[in-house]
Amino acid sequence: MSERSPILQAVELSKGYGEGESFVGVLRGISLEISRGEMVAVIGPSGVGKSTLLHLLGLLDRPDSGRIEIDGRHVENFRPSERAALRNRVLGFVFQHHYLLDELDARENVALPLRISGRKAGPAESRATELLEQVGLRERAHHFPDQLSGGEQQRVAVARALAMHPKLLLADEPTGNLDRESSEQVFELICRLHREEGLSSIIVTHNREIAERCDRIISLSRIPGVGEGEI
Ligand SMILES: Nc1ncnc2c1ncn2[C@@H]1O[C@H](COP(=O)(O)OP(=O)(O)O)[C@@H](O)[C@H]1O
Ligand SMILES: [Mg+2]
Repeated sequence: MSERSPILQAVELSKGYGEGESFVGVLRGISLEISRGEMVAVIGPSGVGKSTLLHLLGLLDRPDSGRIEIDGRHVENFRPSERAALRNRVLGFVFQHHYLLDELDARENVALPLRISGRKAGPAESRATELLEQVGLRERAHHFPDQLSGGEQQRVAVARALAMHPKLLLADEPTGNLDRESSEQVFELICRLHREEGLSSIIVTHNREIAERCDRIISLSRIPGVGEGEI
């Protein structure tokens, strides 16, 4: 796979929910390309399909039609195990709802992807501790999700998404629940990983200030026929 290929290319993606008369088209033929190292914001009103798009790009759901190429590989005909392997090796995902595991403390949640991929407990825990420190939560390592505020949970989820050194971060409103200071801390961390590790990212956000600091903004529109545009 060529290092010069875009990290992600999506062509004519369509996705809707429901069947027959209750079918609702959400994405209608959206195409986008993300260069290696690029940081792209996705904006648009609630319900327009931002999370749907991110789930397709993160291989968590399949489009009704269209193609996706990630890190130089066409994923349409991948088996579930190949999709999971690519997700684990290339992608980091921050969900809109954080999905931390309640029975694991913050450090264990962050270390989980590393443990699943076969890393030993010691190295996995040190990497998790380092990431928690980077999101300002070193003191919270042994707290369980229900002992953390919404913003703290969100930062743990960001740390978890970064645990495997992903090439492409897909973040669904990663600063949505955060106050200004935590939001800045999380965004700065992502920016630093762009500079230092060549990370690429797609960040869904309602925060205009953050969107404007990205390399590019993709704006999803609900108006039929107008489709998505670039600002
Ligand atoms: N699993 C689902 N089943 C049915 N409808 C869904 C599902 N997921 C999302 N939708 C609908 O698709 C539209 C887009 O949702 P979503 O992608 O979550 O938008 P956004 O993230 O931009 O707020 C909404 O109308 C939502 O109700
Ligand atoms: Mg959403």
